[in-house]
Amino acid sequence: MSASSAALSDAEVERRVSALLRQMTLEEKTGQLTQIFYKFIPDSATPEERIRKGEAGSYLFVTDPAEVNRLQRVAVEQSRLHIPLLMGFDVIHGFRTIFPVPLALAASWDPVLVEQVQTIAAREAHAAGIRWTFAPMVDIARDPRWGRMVEGAGEDPFLGAASARAQVRGFQGPYIGSPEHVLACVKHFAGYGAADGGRDYDSSYIPDVSLWNTYLPPFHAAVQAGVGSVMSAYMDLNDVPATGNRFLLQDVLRQSWGFRGFVVSDAFAIRDLTTHGFARDEQDAAYRALTAGIDMDMGAKSYLSNLALLVRQGRIPEAAIDNAVRPVLAAKIRLGLFEHPYVDVSRAQQILNAPEHREFARIAARRSAVLLRNQGALLPLSKNIASLAVIGPLADSQKDLQGSWSFAGDPSEVVTVLQGIRNKLPPGVSVAYAKGVEIRRRYPSMFDALQNVSPAPAPTAAEIEEQFDKAVSVARRSDLAVLVLGEHEDMSGEGASRTSLDLPGDQERLLKAVVATGKPVVLVLINGRPLDLSWAAEHVPAILEAWYPGTQGGNAIADLLFGDASPGGKLPVTWPRSAGQIPIYYAHNRTQQPETSPEFTSRYWDLPSTPLYPFGYGLSYTQFAFSNLQLRQNRVKAGERLEVSVNVENTGNRAGDEVAQLYIHQQSGSASRPVRQLKGFQRITLAPGEKKTLRFMLGQEELSYWSPQEKKWVEEPADFDLWIGPDSTATLHATFAIIP
Ligand code: BGC
Repeated sequence: MSASSAALSDAEVERRVSALLRQMTLEEKTGQLTQIFYKFIPDSATPEERIRKGEAGSYLFVTDPAEVNRLQRVAVEQSRLHIPLLMGFDVIHGFRTIFPVPLALAASWDPVLVEQVQTIAAREAHAAGIRWTFAPMVDIARDPRWGRMVEGAGEDPFLGAASARAQVRGFQGPYIGSPEHVLACVKHFAGYGAADGGRDYDSSYIPDVSLWNTYLPPFHAAVQAGVGSVMSAYMDLNDVPATGNRFLLQDVLRQSWGFRGFVVSDAFAIRDLTTHGFARDEQDAAYRALTAGIDMDMGAKSYLSNLALLVRQGRIPEAAIDNAVRPVLAAKIRLGLFEHPYVDVSRAQQILNAPEHREFARIAARRSAVLLRNQGALLPLSKNIASLAVIGPLADSQKDLQGSWSFAGDPSEVVTVLQGIRNKLPPGVSVAYAKGVEIRRRYPSMFDALQNVSPAPAPTAAEIEEQFDKAVSVARRSDLAVLVLGEHEDMSGEGASRTSLDLPGDQERLLKAVVATGKPVVLVLINGRPLDLSWAAEHVPAILEAWYPGTQGGNAIADLLFGDASPGGKLPVTWPRSAGQIPIYYAHNRTQQPETSPEFTSRYWDLPSTPLYPFGYGLSYTQFAFSNLQLRQNRVKAGERLEVSVNVENTGNRAGDEVAQLYIHQQSGSASRPVRQLKGFQRITLAPGEKKTLRFMLGQEELSYWSPQEKKWVEEPADFDLWIGPDSTATLHATFAIIP
């Protein structure tokens, strides 16, 4: 075990931090505030030289346990004060075992599952010597053009907060330094998801009212759950870069929320304060970042080259440097790094290859999938068929099933959809495969560019047609076709924004041609954002959203297609009909011309203003009925709690999962309130005919909001609507009031 078996007391940690600080030179202190990053970035000194001189407190992007030990040995045995390095890495949805991407995990609406996933991810990362993950990413995203939607929990602050808490618990365990856990880092503080035009890194303009009510709650939830570190965002928030933003880093994070861990910049974000046109030069950038509240410099040498100088010039008191170093040293002490800096390489291999981790990845992928359409109950498929065609550029692709941020995963282990289907079916069934089309980004991804990966040569026009025709004829010769379409893993993620939501390349043409054969078609989607499915939603009988499902994705998808598991996930985002509807989210205000009024025709004359699939939507292989909505009290005083119950019954003839969702609407107040807001949910499994009574509690946290007129959180006397049902269009309705 390389961590303490009980949390150290604050006093003990403080004592050890102070003792260390007293021995440190100013340069050694700034070293602790520097994270070095060698994978892609050239440097004038070797890592060993920097570490030996105490110029690195943390190291980014080393995943090989033997290499971790080698670098750690330099820090512990050859640096003057023997302070171990804090090894950091993006453990976003798994380390060696890759789980579904965070957006998919959010679609499970199952925080217990999310916590278990991140517990396993932490265990593997910890075994390899990683002690710090740059997760959870909790940026609310309401614009699917933004590629990083895939890394978060979607559009809703309530679901986002639940996901944030679950992930922090999973990564850190009950306390920082829990055995086999790592330090979490909630990111990107704050407002990154609102980038103008969905363009990654562009400025965000977020009024206070949306900041407090929509964008900040998942960060606050992570802080309340004890997250040990925070990462600042890259972009300008209301014209002040997040990395030099005193309002965010001081007023909100430390003053209002009482955060006591440390804040790291995003990669090179301190240096880039000059790029923003905010800091005059790199020294000014270091000054502004430190005084705003950034403790550690990720990737650059802005602190290392400037902070000591700034102290000597009298511009920054040394006490300010000490205040930044303290929580960094405290984290290292709490994590047990001084006692156990090294890892056992052979034990690491065992843990990284644990079969139970892979088995759990399969469960997680099954629970994350969302069934969007199932006309004529085409799904689940019978295993008793003669032939099946599996078609599409993502049908047999290992790397793509992992999704972005899976650098420590092993693509050769990934079970593709084709393989999963072959594993599932008896040997007599003929399973034919055709790729059909190639898809590619117009501009290469920055990760490819950094790693010097050159794109595969483009096929000729003749090759393209031949591949296409082959796929259609394979479908024609089979009893049914499973099409696996969507986005390559590099089409969603950082630096992966898009202007359109179309199925990239010629995929829709392929889909239309296969549907035209008259064979039953199942569309399996591999992607990280809603796509334009307007055509498919009318013409393809069955659509299963599988997201990027991870190492065991193919097996999990086959389990779902053939009914060995039942889909029960729900959309964590509103699914637009077309990119022109963006931004579109369910918790919008009512306005003076609501869609529900009789005179209302359309906000657009060319499309309805409703989404293709609403937030919270997802089908099952069985049916559920909601009934008997009861409120224990119809009138409560502010601060009191309200108990709500509802019956959910499985009225079909298969077992299945339903997610009961509770929404409220405040009818009047000091501000207009959204038409609906999610304030409770529970995922349950019911046998055929089984009925359960579910209970929900609403208290101050659910019933208050940040009022732009009062400029504070308020719980106001008002009438409220309440709905419970299977998605955000739930119809079972009741009312209650908060009374003075
Ligand atoms: C991303 C962060 C990530 C960091 C380190 C940055 O480009 O924005 O989310 O944690 O790189 O890899």
